[in-house]
Amino acid sequence: METVVSGIRSTGKLHLGNYYGAVKNFVQMQNEYACYFFIADFHSLTTHPTPADLHGNVKQVLVEYLAAGIDPEKATIYVQSDVPEISELYLYLNMNAYVGELERSTSFKDKVRANPDNVNAGLLTYPVLMAADILIHKATKVPVGKDQEQHLEMARVFGNRFNRLYSKEFFPEPYAFNFAEQLVKIPGLDGKGKMGKSEGEGNAIFLSDEPDVIRKKVMRAVTDSGPTENDEVKPQSVQNLFDLLKFVSSNDTFKHFEGLYNDCNIRYGDLKKQLAEDIILANAPMREKINFISNDTSYLKQVARHGALKARESASNTIREVREIIGFKSF
Ligand code: TYM
Repeated sequence: METVVSGIRSTGKLHLGNYYGAVKNFVQMQNEYACYFFIADFHSLTTHPTPADLHGNVKQVLVEYLAAGIDPEKATIYVQSDVPEISELYLYLNMNAYVGELERSTSFKDKVRANPDNVNAGLLTYPVLMAADILIHKATKVPVGKDQEQHLEMARVFGNRFNRLYSKEFFPEPYAFNFAEQLVKIPGLDGKGKMGKSEGEGNAIFLSDEPDVIRKKVMRAVTDSGPTENDEVKPQSVQNLFDLLKFVSSNDTFKHFEGLYNDCNIRYGDLKKQLAEDIILANAPMREKINFISNDTSYLKQVARHGALKARESASNTIREVREIIGFKSF
């Protein structure tokens, strides 16, 4: 059976981008593959969270994984820092990751531009840690959103380079996966690019948002003054709302608003109202479970412990072999 690995950085609540880009696939994949889904708390250290925030955020993602339907009996759910073998593999892979190629990564360049005062080495080697997450379980499939494609390419480079260096077909090649569909990019509400936590207030809708918060955010979404000619190309901000509609609403609803737009009869207020209600409906079962599971500390503890044991079993097998291949021997 093929192995699947994926994770979410523990920087707080999950938004619709995380859900439709990644977690929804996790839920589908757990029935067909050997799945490892983790909470990337090592990765979150690049932004220096306080100890209290760190733990709270890890808990939040764990709760939301469970609320979204990841089943700890089917998939292995774990916290990255509970598996120290990952950091050991990260160290080894760092020895043959080159500074030049890491500096050329798009996500690194974006981070440098956004936070020029915090260009730390962890940011530079972020793709190496991500490769370690994936290769530690010898995974071949990685359910992620479109923004992670380049990281997957780097994971293949690092795995192949290790194989070549030691003349051994050890790590298989991991590929981004979305059930043969294109990888997903969920747009934000600011009329620009993708939905993301750090893209500013109101851009992201979280799975845990209350209905009124969702209504307010959607009603404030950026649009233009409306089309003036039939079948006009949509500006980015309006296209974004239609893209969201495609994910949360029925096909009929989507076609209805598409028709109104093409005939210049669209009223953005109506579209937004429908979009907000459909998001609320789609999120409702998860939102209720989030509240419920958050309070069950003993269940969360049991899930995390069980997941850590299973993940370490797989990770320690890989590390034992890696040490042998590299040539570490005990006296
Ligand atoms: P992170 O935490 O930024 O995002 C987690 C997942 O959500 C997806 N995503 C989106 N998909 C579509 N549209 C969006 N607007 C959107 N925003 C976020 C991301 O593509 C991702 O799949 N580096 C990873 C975490 C990670 C990881 C790994 C993933 C660490 N190690 C190993 C896979 C395998 C990250 O920062 O994701």
